[in-house]
Amino acid sequence: MTILVTGGAGFIGSNFVLGWLAQSDEPVVNLDKLTYAGNLQNLVSLNGDTRHVFVQGDFGDAALVQSLLARQQPRAIVNFAAESHVDRSISGPSEFIQTNIVGTFTMLEAVRAYWGALDAPAKASFRLLHVSTDEVYGSLAKAEAAFTETHRYEPNSPYSASKAASDHLVRAYHHTYGLPVLTTNCSNNYGPFHFPEKLIPLMIVNALAGKPLPVYGDGQQIRDWLYVRDHCSAIRRALQAGQPGETYNVGGWNEMPNLDIVHTVCALLDELKPRADGKPYKDQITFVTDRPGHDRRYAIDARKIEQQLGWKPAETFATGILKTVQWYLDNQAWVTNVQSGAYRDWVAKQYGAQPAA
Ligand code: NAD
Ligand code: TYD
Repeated sequence: MTILVTGGAGFIGSNFVLGWLAQSDEPVVNLDKLTYAGNLQNLVSLNGDTRHVFVQGDFGDAALVQSLLARQQPRAIVNFAAESHVDRSISGPSEFIQTNIVGTFTMLEAVRAYWGALDAPAKASFRLLHVSTDEVYGSLAKAEAAFTETHRYEPNSPYSASKAASDHLVRAYHHTYGLPVLTTNCSNNYGPFHFPEKLIPLMIVNALAGKPLPVYGDGQQIRDWLYVRDHCSAIRRALQAGQPGETYNVGGWNEMPNLDIVHTVCALLDELKPRADGKPYKDQITFVTDRPGHDRRYAIDARKIEQQLGWKPAETFATGILKTVQWYLDNQAWVTNVQSGAYRDWVAKQYGAQPAA
């Protein structure tokens, strides 16, 4: 038995692969293109471990995926591969259309052919789990109820629109061809190996470097944060017990405005690694121009996965954020490593005219 993971060198994918092999001996074939967001350093602890087979390649390369499926015969696929950063989708949407929509479609076609040729028992037990986001549901007003699985899709950014399209394709392959798919729509993740272009790692890294902490607009946008290893346990549970064709919302019941997140990170750093001048890190907060079309609030109603599959997060925000800040303090070499030329180019482009540059 083997599973195929796509995008397993990225933030969530690498946490998933490490978590999987920590609790199972079932091998993982990891197909990742190694874009700027993919990093084999995340998986260095698996060097020499024959249960992990890494393949550098595009999940939208039909011939590659077909041959990989034929050779490895996975019983399940977990699809993390995507372009994932909203700001990048605003400054350059085309890669998001290519990867998230065309790539997912191409992979689905290869999987449909592979699955169609399996014998009856293998066909029945096969699963394709598509990892998606709460951003497909759009933005909530302050008093509105959290997103359930039946909330209308109303994506607002090129990123969320491309993820919505991929969700629809996955759904259609179940309804049209009977492919046994599962979709999980998760809220914002945080934790180890998070690329420092996203809010929490960017704040930690900039704070330690003495740089401004760029808060978009008024900082009152609300996100619902989940520790990445809890997301991974939800995916494992859905893969094990989810009903084909169903979608499951995954979240930590932890809505917080961005500014509170930044203050929390600053306060933890004040304790764990105080500034040399004795001043608080929050002095580095700088309000910058808001993101165009910035969604005001996301919130996940996670009752379905809790009640039907018995999943619950293990971390609270207080325990998860402490682990995260400590991880970045303990892994400064990893940070230096990912701050390559490509990373610096992005920071200059995104914050160039603003104080975070
Ligand atoms: P990430 O950007 O850190 O990683 C994406 C990975 O996919 C990288 O390793 C990259 O090299 C790889 N990849 C990109 N294009 C590829 C291609 N064509 N073929 C093969 N590999 C390719 O993203 P992440 O934050 O780990 O997100 C993983 C998945 O989870 C995405 O589908 C994302 O939409 C979803 N998601 C993310 C969050 C979050 O908060 N980060 C929340 C909910 C859902
Ligand atoms: P991000 O980590 O990009 O995730 P997403 O946009 O997918 O929710 O951003 C989280 C929130 O933080 C979002 O409301 C935008 C905000 N943000 C900032 O205020 N400053 C920043 O430099 C970044 C990257 C994000």
